[in-house]
Amino acid sequence: MRHIRSFTAVLLTFISLSFCTGAYAQKFTELAQTPPMGWNTWNKFKCRINEDLIRATADAMVTTGMKDAGYEYVNIDDCWHGERSLLGFIQPDPKRFPSGMKALADYVHSKGLKLGIYSDAGKTTCAGYPGSQGFEDQDAAMYAHWGIDYVKYDWCDTRGLDAKTAYTKMRDAIYKTGRPMVFSICEWGSNNPTQWAPEIGHAWRTTSDIYQCWDCYLGDPKTAALSVLQILDLQTGLRDFAGPGRWNDMDMLEVGNGISDSQGRAHFTLWAMMNSPLITGNDLRNMSAATLSTLTNRAVIALNQDKLGIQALRVLRDGDIEIFAKPLAGGDWAIAFLNRGRQARTYSFNWVEQDIVDKLSKRELRFSKMIYQWQELWSNTKGSTAKKFDQVIPAEDVIVYRLTPSKH
Ligand code: GLA
Repeated sequence: MRHIRSFTAVLLTFISLSFCTGAYAQKFTELAQTPPMGWNTWNKFKCRINEDLIRATADAMVTTGMKDAGYEYVNIDDCWHGERSLLGFIQPDPKRFPSGMKALADYVHSKGLKLGIYSDAGKTTCAGYPGSQGFEDQDAAMYAHWGIDYVKYDWCDTRGLDAKTAYTKMRDAIYKTGRPMVFSICEWGSNNPTQWAPEIGHAWRTTSDIYQCWDCYLGDPKTAALSVLQILDLQTGLRDFAGPGRWNDMDMLEVGNGISDSQGRAHFTLWAMMNSPLITGNDLRNMSAATLSTLTNRAVIALNQDKLGIQALRVLRDGDIEIFAKPLAGGDWAIAFLNRGRQARTYSFNWVEQDIVDKLSKRELRFSKMIYQWQELWSNTKGSTAKKFDQVIPAEDVIVYRLTPSKH
């Protein structure tokens, strides 16, 4: 009886949507004013997912303190799908999700969290499950009925489709349901998304998939899985397109998935500095203390969640050392020193000789004119830019400062 009632509700929503297809549609512009934060099943679990994992992860997000640190979305990636009903309505796999998606969303919401789901613009998803092509309105109506808050939309099996058109179709379908859902575009940066995605989605992937490696080369960077540093290097030229409600998505985090603690710290800091969504991809039920403390470093998270929403710029590269700067709300800046290499490096940086000018935010750092107080966000040490930076930057690690102008 319950199933019949809920099925009728979706059917009615869907029929009413079919009558207003001419309605003005857009994305939900109030969402993702800062980069979305959450967790996703794919990096760690691939298709080994079920409702118990989602519930336990939601529990862990609360008990570990991750929710308090800002994580909100619990996102189910590929492989949740069962078959479509005779009328074309998508259903979850009854073995993996026997209680159904609505019950799962209710549970996740009861924890003060939000539930995300995954689909694909083509006929099948990347793992071969039913995609949304031809079923966009019906799928969006079903997600809204279940209480979904976030839709990641992939790009497999889309030969012959135009990306902007296909993503607009799903954006409109979501909008017409009336339920605000973050729309996360996942076409791997392969159709110039910066030219159209900011109007359509809240974030767009900039590269092909990440995998658990700091600096590895596995073939063609356009199609192969990419390591942390390769993804970082592919962000050149993208920062002008991002801002509140529209983010360059550098893919989900691999912190805690087999990279070292220092690599994880640097990976996390860089994704935060670049305003990428911070979607963790490890097993939250079972994390080391180091992984948890990396993922919940509130001072680093605050760089990512800064209201100004300006992505970091690369200031210089000097061998394995790279420096990134990020203007922050209220006159502060963040400066990160990355050591890409396998050797610790002693590095000197005389602040007062440096000028950093950011054309995008029209902000400047002129250390000869203004002294800044700094706090290093992993060690909590403090100092000022009046004194030269002369430091060991550990191998495959990062030092990141928050600079605050000194009061005169
Ligand atoms: C693509 C996406 C990944 C993941 C998988 C699922 O590769 O880029 O993030 O969603 O599909 O099959």
